Amino acid sequence: MTPDFLYGTAWKEERTAALTELALRSGFRGIDTANQRRHYFEAGVGQGLAAAYRAGIVTRADLFLQTKYTYQPGQDHRLPYDPDADLSTQVAQSLASSLEHLDTDHVDSYVLHGPASGQGWTHYDSEVWTAMVRERDAGRARLLGVSNVSLRHLQQLMDSGAATPAFVQNRCFARVGWDREVRAFCAKWKIVYQGFSLLTANVEALRHPVLADIAARHRATPAQVVFGFARAVGMLPLTGTTDAAHMREDLASRALSLDRDEVQAIESVAVAGGPGGR
Ligand SMILES: NC(=O)c1ccc[n+]([C@@H]2O[C@H](COP(=O)([O-])OP(=O)(O)OC[C@H]3O[C@@H](n4cnc5c(N)ncnc54)[C@H](OP(=O)(O)O)[C@@H]3O)[C@@H](O)[C@H]2O)c1
Repeated sequence: MTPDFLYGTAWKEERTAALTELALRSGFRGIDTANQRRHYFEAGVGQGLAAAYRAGIVTRADLFLQTKYTYQPGQDHRLPYDPDADLSTQVAQSLASSLEHLDTDHVDSYVLHGPASGQGWTHYDSEVWTAMVRERDAGRARLLGVSNVSLRHLQQLMDSGAATPAFVQNRCFARVGWDREVRAFCAKWKIVYQGFSLLTANVEALRHPVLADIAARHRATPAQVVFGFARAVGMLPLTGTTDAAHMREDLASRALSLDRDEVQAIESVAVAGGPGGR
């Protein structure tokens, strides 16, 4: 089952294991990582999982583990595959290495970290996607996703006749209507939209009086309102907080129930704060 919150493990370096374990102790059951040593320490995530298993906090079956395949330009010298191998082989090697890091025989979701070009879906992406489908069919990944995609990428992926992704993971900017176009596309195709940088990309929106009013009404923080809004519009939010109190605060946002007018008002903050708005 897909959880209602994902704990993100980027940028935690030597604290990755301890923070992953803390997130599980705090109640997170979904973990997002990537086999991209430049920004993630996936083996550290595995150490955190192992500690949580040993402590009896969770079992593998309780968890939703998501990792990613990252093209070479997104990596540093610490590659999880042979750079001279073809892309299909790289995908297989990268996932095999992830399974080893996470000490599991499958991940719950395998995500293409970003398409090869910002301009559109290329034949490189098609090759990688086909290899990812092969991994899914072999049982090493339950579901597949794509990240850092535009509407154009998604339309071209679908037009190629390839398998529909289960997930889209995007940075969610309030100034572009909280990624409204991509979210609408996802809703149409029953793709779950995972939103990241909900707080860091939307500092202005978080300070907006509309958010402050709603937060005060619910005795919640603006951050909780943003996560509550995300869920109300069908998003699966990510948080990568390193703070135990923020972990509790973020999880507590699941109890927040915003009414239709409040959700609409937050959608409109997006418009007001958008380019040319206000
Ligand atoms: N697909 C991609 O390309 C991609 C790119 C970026 C991120 N991601 C994923 O998304 C995850 C989350 O990244 P993010 O960009 O959303 O940023 P983030 O790592 O969640 O950073 C949130 C920032 O806001 C602060 N903060 C303040 N109040 C908070 C609260 N109540 N709850 C949470 N944070 C609070 C945090 O500080 P404290 O630590 O002090 O709480 C932190 O500095 C990453 O770990 C990664 O898994 C994916």
